Amino acid sequence: MSDDLDALRGETAEALAAAADLRAWDAVRVGTLGKSGRLTGLLKGLGAVPAEERRERGAALNRLKAELEAAIEARRVSLEGAALEARLASERMDVSLPPRPHAPGGAGEGGIHPISRTIEELTAIFGAMGFRVAEGPDIESDWLNFSALNIPEHHPARQDHDTFYLPAGADGRRPVLRTHTSPVQARTMLGQEPPIRVICPGRTWRADHDATHSPMFHQVEGLVIDRGITLGHLKGCIIDFLRAFFGIGDLPVRFRASYFPFTEPSMEVDIGWNRKTGELGKAKGGENDWLEILGSGMVHPRVLANCGIDAREWQGFAFGMGIERITMLKHGMPDLRPFYESDLRWLRHWAADPLAPPSLTEGV
Ligand code: DAH
Repeated sequence: MSDDLDALRGETAEALAAAADLRAWDAVRVGTLGKSGRLTGLLKGLGAVPAEERRERGAALNRLKAELEAAIEARRVSLEGAALEARLASERMDVSLPPRPHAPGGAGEGGIHPISRTIEELTAIFGAMGFRVAEGPDIESDWLNFSALNIPEHHPARQDHDTFYLPAGADGRRPVLRTHTSPVQARTMLGQEPPIRVICPGRTWRADHDATHSPMFHQVEGLVIDRGITLGHLKGCIIDFLRAFFGIGDLPVRFRASYFPFTEPSMEVDIGWNRKTGELGKAKGGENDWLEILGSGMVHPRVLANCGIDAREWQGFAFGMGIERITMLKHGMPDLRPFYESDLRWLRHWAADPLAPPSLTEGV
């Protein structure tokens, strides 16, 4: 075989071995097999070779071409394998490492949504009072959403709820998107023996949309069932919670008689605030303005009976409030809609530090 072919074979092998990455490898490939590559040049020159040598040289060139193609391909495979190995090694994650204070994208890249934060805070505060968290589905039977809670079939409260109905199931009844978290009360009582102490945070749905209402929103329900529970327990629990949540130790709290089908007696709870400034807390001189914040009451004996609990032995109280509402009040947010718009500027502004634990008394 001619010297120039041997030289090309040797030099190509050397260049391939020296090519440390796919870019360098491609340069070798193009320089050998490309349009103006060295091998291509030799093949083109075949016509100028004397006829008696042409056949043999042609065969030798074709063998060399096959050889070089195989060597070039083999180098590609090994370089790609090495690149993958390197990537796998560099992207390995050590899950035992403690988290860094800021995500790799820079300070403030990740944070906790204010709704989630409020749920964490609620859970911390009620958790310290011995409550556990209970959950239920978004799609409820109308029995659990209404009837079990003493809201019978043609009761006007059903209309007040602007309910989203789903197509009827096999039983001919139309399931609903739960209009409040209260069905989780019923589920909990049906599912476990008293004593019960639960909060039920979660999504709720009503056909309503403006600056302070969204078709999907969140509530938290509370339920305590035990022996000898009185209105005094309800008041103490709610006052402690509101003062801890808003971080205002002397926050005025007022209980006002009201009506809910599932409680008797029922009370709405107001907190002290300044109507002009929107500031929560005790009025500095003069009378407090009052802001309604939640509904509550002693669980109606009929609700206890519907859920299989003997009202002569067990009593309890319940309450329910809007999570967006208490979040807006705590942080002075004027509009509810941005909660769900995924506007990064809003999210960055209001997001909570994922590493700061929710405190029991986090102030404004
Ligand atoms: N379910 C009520 C609502 O959606 C809130 C509520 C009021 C819940 C009083 C309760 C309660 O548990 O006792 O408006």
